[in-house]
Amino acid sequence: MPSKGSSYLIGHPELDADHDAMISIWRELEASRTMETAKMVAVRLMNETSAHFAREEEFMAQCRFPELGRHRALHSEMISSLRRVLLSPLMGSGKHEDFVLAVRSLMEKWISVHLVAEDSKLAPYARSQSGRMALARR
Ligand SMILES: [Fe+2]
Ligand SMILES: [Fe+2]
Repeated sequence: MPSKGSSYLIGHPELDADHDAMISIWRELEASRTMETAKMVAVRLMNETSAHFAREEEFMAQCRFPELGRHRALHSEMISSLRRVLLSPLMGSGKHEDFVLAVRSLMEKWISVHLVAEDSKLAPYARSQSGRMALARR
């Protein structure tokens, strides 16, 4: 699991805080001992993820990020995968351990593929936005 402050920072305070929040909720899920707790934490992970994707897409629209359409499609793919994993225990299938593993494989993929390779493309936009804000404050 990545440690706080690792290379996935994009320099946008809210979006970076969202990423940290998603990872820390996932850590809680990893630490859960029962399916009951894991399911409750997973619902929070789902809500946090949807709220974050909405905020990130809004930022991309604001700064006219050219890959918004593609990035949005990646977000909906992630939401569908997460939803599928979250629904599996509700269908009565699987053990706590399998559930934790399924979420882990999704989150590891999200960090290594999405966060590092896709969200990182927002860093220059975040930099230029904070530059503009600094100018406006002068
Ligand atoms: Fe993203
Ligand atoms: Fe993100």
